[in-house]
Amino acid sequence: MADPIDPHTTSRIADCTLVKLARHHHENGNLTVLENCTQMPVEFVRVFYIYDVPAGADRGGHSHYRCHQLLVAISGSFDVTLDDGHQTRTVTLNRPFQALHITPGIWRTMQNFSSGSVCLVLASEHFDESDYVRQYEDFLQLTANKRP
Ligand code: TYD
Repeated sequence: MADPIDPHTTSRIADCTLVKLARHHHENGNLTVLENCTQMPVEFVRVFYIYDVPAGADRGGHSHYRCHQLLVAISGSFDVTLDDGHQTRTVTLNRPFQALHITPGIWRTMQNFSSGSVCLVLASEHFDESDYVRQYEDFLQLTANKRP
């Protein structure tokens, strides 16, 4: 079988989309369900969350070969900077009913975490360190010859 195309050669920040999640509104509070995410082209097999981020700290700083991720600020707010090696865009997540879909081959950093914020992440792959690109210089090399 031919090697799959490395998504770093095709990834575009424009493919990272904000998805509005449905809310079950109730006078005693709202509820959002993530189940069979039909708006997503992938299924999610792993959930993790980032919390207790000290003031001024950054997270992320990597890209993935295969893993899609869906990020939700389930409490507080933070910024996500997306980078395809040629363009960058920063998205503020501050609503528990708003999710950011990050496709493979996109470098992401998260910063400006508000006090008490929690970043929920759904991932399409199980944890695998070999799926990460952690050196920005490597990322720039992988994305240098971006295909049209
Ligand atoms: P990392 O993905 O680098 O975190 P972030 O992007 O938020 O800065 O992961 C931090 C550490 O946690 C790293 O040592 C790997 C470990 N880890 C797991 O063991 N399993 C997981 O599912 C994840 C996401 C991280």
